[in-house]
Amino acid sequence: MVNYKDLGLVNTREMFKRAVAGGYAIPAFNFNTMEQMQAIVQAAVETKSPVIMQVSKGARNYANATILRYMAEGAVAYAKELGCAHPEIVLHLDHGDSFELCKDCIDMGFSSVMYDGSSLPYEENIRISRQVVEYAHKFDVTVECELGVLAGVEDEVAAEESHYTKPEEVIDFATRTGCDSLAISIGTSHGAYKFKPEQCTRDPKTGKLVPPPLAFDVLHEIEEKLPGFPIVLHGSSSVPQDEVDTINKYGGNLPDAVGIPEEQLRLASKSAVCKINIDSDSRLAMTAAIRKYLAEHPDHFDPRQYLKPARENMKKMYIHKIVNVLGSDGKLAQ
Ligand code: 13P
Repeated sequence: MVNYKDLGLVNTREMFKRAVAGGYAIPAFNFNTMEQMQAIVQAAVETKSPVIMQVSKGARNYANATILRYMAEGAVAYAKELGCAHPEIVLHLDHGDSFELCKDCIDMGFSSVMYDGSSLPYEENIRISRQVVEYAHKFDVTVECELGVLAGVEDEVAAEESHYTKPEEVIDFATRTGCDSLAISIGTSHGAYKFKPEQCTRDPKTGKLVPPPLAFDVLHEIEEKLPGFPIVLHGSSSVPQDEVDTINKYGGNLPDAVGIPEEQLRLASKSAVCKINIDSDSRLAMTAAIRKYLAEHPDHFDPRQYLKPARENMKKMYIHKIVNVLGSDGKLAQ
């Protein structure tokens, strides 16, 4: 048993309280590689932002959970080395799909876990969520649960059909599970293809897809039912068109990739939404930089040569999100 506090990590409780009161959101960036971890820490330190580093099932399969846990411990030491005396870094399990997995992560030093029972019948979702919360709270680990189903595909989590969170269920769910935050479905979705072309309109000037707006009415109803309660948005990459264009220019093929417009995320950040999950944008930033670099330097083969601009590009994207979209810059407690 390793307690996250001994690793210098923090849970989400205090940072969410401050984020809800202050009208901003904490970035939750997924990571699988050392370069992503370095870019996240550099961006968080330079902007003086709290940050959530999250690990999905796909990340655990790719990199191994133990290695990722040590990387998070390394992230705390790295942040201090970069000059941040009191970093606020959360190591979070993204989309835990069983009590056993959540327990495993808590036991190895995660400071926060998500139990995602959103695809289960309501009572079953409550039962397992409650079980995770009871175990996690013994160690002061915070728990995110989910109500409502997001569409899209994400590291081994896929849903064909989405449905919005039902506001009439949230009080009962939050009370009976005792969860610390609630992920809701208001029209975001996982991946780089968040909407089918037929769900969008097209900008007549650029020919690019314009996605439908998020269901802010549902968000506001939920906020009214649970005043001040921390709300989480998954599937919140914006799929920047310049990165998609770079990928396509240098041999990629991502037609009609579309994300959530940043103005909508900015608006959501000002509400009770206090955690915004971003994974695909990091993948796009990394891939765009690598494709460009390799196309321009066909004789290079040292991974450090192309991973360096990839890391720089991800860092630029993380800083942009923190400063211009979520507003968590300068929000460290001390
Ligand atoms: P994106 O695919 O929009 O980056 O969403 C990531 C996510 O929600 C991780 O849980």
